[in-house]
Amino acid sequence: MSLSEPRPGTATRETLPNPSIDFWKHRHVLDLDDFSREETDLVFEIAEGMVEILDRDVKKVPTLRGKTIATMFFEPSTRTRASFELAAKYLGADTINLEAARSSVAKGESLIDSLRTLQALEVNAIIMRHPCSGAPYIAARNLDTSIINAGDGCHAHPSQGLLDIFTMRQQLGNLKGRKAVIVGDILHSRVARSNIWGTRHYGMKLVLCAPPTLMPHGLPDMLEKYSLNHVTLEHDLNTAIKNADIVMPLRLQKERQQSGLISSLREYTQGYQINAARLAGAKPDVLVMHPGPMNEGAEISPEVAYGTRSLIEQQVTNGVAVRMALLYLIAGGKSR
Ligand code: NCD
Repeated sequence: MSLSEPRPGTATRETLPNPSIDFWKHRHVLDLDDFSREETDLVFEIAEGMVEILDRDVKKVPTLRGKTIATMFFEPSTRTRASFELAAKYLGADTINLEAARSSVAKGESLIDSLRTLQALEVNAIIMRHPCSGAPYIAARNLDTSIINAGDGCHAHPSQGLLDIFTMRQQLGNLKGRKAVIVGDILHSRVARSNIWGTRHYGMKLVLCAPPTLMPHGLPDMLEKYSLNHVTLEHDLNTAIKNADIVMPLRLQKERQQSGLISSLREYTQGYQINAARLAGAKPDVLVMHPGPMNEGAEISPEVAYGTRSLIEQQVTNGVAVRMALLYLIAGGKSR
């Protein structure tokens, strides 16, 4: 199968890669723990072709024409949902967006019943965000339709992990020997967890830095159990940041905080904010990323967020390309 069907006036065949996707086995995308290096590279290779489509004036190809992609979000979202919806639309699919508050879930319908309704409507993939860790796994077990996890509780956010690593590779090329630091509310971060799994293939070092109260207790055991030797944990940001190529602060997730995890925002900011003074301790050409949404003045200072070292806008653009690649593989490929 090619990425796009030839159509008069479209030049997609010449400009897009046409990799073999025969080894792609995923019906669902739930996390990156079951993604091999080969599969992750395939997503990136296809996403590179999608970046070219995004550079065009008319960003539309007919690859998923006749397919329907549904989003079902049980939690607020700006960029992830908009990004998936645009990705589906640029590939020519129809989209349905369901918000839990406005759907029959608000009338007491169970999660599975709501999802089964979408399945009965013959949607080709459901992109799902849910506050409970594991909810997309329950959906995947009970449905034939493909499920893409767009964030489940504190557990996983695979498309964000992929777009983060894609952005690092786009900027740095080979990631072997590079050092990335993810700093902040690791305890509640599904983004950090998916980055742990996704980065394991690339020979890079990943440092997770947080105050002790925002570092998950079970993390050292998990890293040991799964031989995730590329990850180290650090409480001191100045130590963590030394020789870093990438620094990615995380939002302090106030909605998931139990009181008492940080003594005060002021103290947290003093110890963990990424600002120009702090970055002086990293490599001179250190790059800054953020999965968004940002709390400027808390985990990141505005001069860094909008400065020359910031890749935050590229992450947003790359997010669409990476999600186009995922939708292509899930809804357009042979796994359907
Ligand atoms: C993150 C999320 O929702 O997990 N944002 C995102 O999807 N880009 C991080 C957050 O909420 O802070």
